[in-house]
Amino acid sequence: MEFKVLATDGKARYGKLKGTHGETETPCFMPVGTLGAVKGVTWNEISEMGYSLVLSNVYHLYLRPGIEVIEKAGGLHRFVNWNGLILTDSGGFQVFSLGKLMKISEEGIYFKSHIDGSEHFFSPELVVELEEKMGVDIGMVLDECTPYPATYEYAKHSMERTVRWALRSIKARTTDKTAIFGIVQGGTYDDLRLKCVELLKGLPFEGFAIGGLSVGEPKEEMYRITKLVAPTLPEEKPRYLMGVGKPEDIIEAVEAGVDMFDCVIPTRNARNGTLFTSRGKVNIKSAKYKNDFSPLDPECDCYTCRNFTKAYLRHLYVSKEINSAILNTIHNLYFYNRLMKKMREAIKNGEFQEFKKEFFSKYLTF
Ligand code: GUN
Ligand code: ZN
Repeated sequence: MEFKVLATDGKARYGKLKGTHGETETPCFMPVGTLGAVKGVTWNEISEMGYSLVLSNVYHLYLRPGIEVIEKAGGLHRFVNWNGLILTDSGGFQVFSLGKLMKISEEGIYFKSHIDGSEHFFSPELVVELEEKMGVDIGMVLDECTPYPATYEYAKHSMERTVRWALRSIKARTTDKTAIFGIVQGGTYDDLRLKCVELLKGLPFEGFAIGGLSVGEPKEEMYRITKLVAPTLPEEKPRYLMGVGKPEDIIEAVEAGVDMFDCVIPTRNARNGTLFTSRGKVNIKSAKYKNDFSPLDPECDCYTCRNFTKAYLRHLYVSKEINSAILNTIHNLYFYNRLMKKMREAIKNGEFQEFKKEFFSKYLTF
């Protein structure tokens, strides 16, 4: 993997990331395709919207269809027939949401399948092995996502274990075709976050992620930790804020120097009828759109906005038509990509503050 910062504006960075299966400009947003498909859209639509990097998940693919199936298919790219970049999350986060179904030890994580209750074990070494076997461009290490709230002692032990697992992950590598990113934990404690960066920074990861945020903490805490951590990470490597977020969160984080994002919000909200527009969020099921024959967002030139009215999109939603999920997802993902593109242009032109001001002058966040 190769990464180059090509322009900066304040702490914000514009760059290019090249992997085994293509390249992307940064800051970038990764659509979430947990099970090897982005819900509601085809790969063709994903690339036409301008995306060349998507996120998937080892935990889910390991349980179904199983990594051997993916290996037999010739790797994850061939199995799903996507020829862009793929980053896989390790399952460190998903397993934690299993609650009672998992048990953590120094060796790794024991968990029960959410599908059939069968018992499994993930170690940091196994996760790297599985990511290499699938041939993904970027694999995330197995980490312990510290919940919120957590006591200082808990957050400290969990951060230290995540660092020990990071070391084991590095030692388990057998190829550089799959880049591996480390993950910074430490909860909402400044000193733990900075200590974690200090311990991970020297390890030969191709990039670093900020984890353990957007787990229920107040927005101010998330912004504070992001602004504290991002600038301390190695300048020449990509920085990834995991599981974030809303458009306003992404803008704040780009300003702090973050390069990569992923979140289910644009795709999940699309299926729930919540659409992002230049004026803020629109709830398409509202009766006020029953006879509204204007486009969803006059400033958007996605397939949905160019061809359909709010009244029609509302009708599709209320009638539970499959086309509702499809057209809404196309719009939301297009909106997110255009947002990232505007930020990249603004950084290149040294106009990030102007961009931010202009964006928030129109976009209502309540
Ligand atoms: N996705 C969102 N947050 C996290 C995190 O802390 N760790 C991992 N592995 N994935 C995440
Ligand atoms: Zn649109």
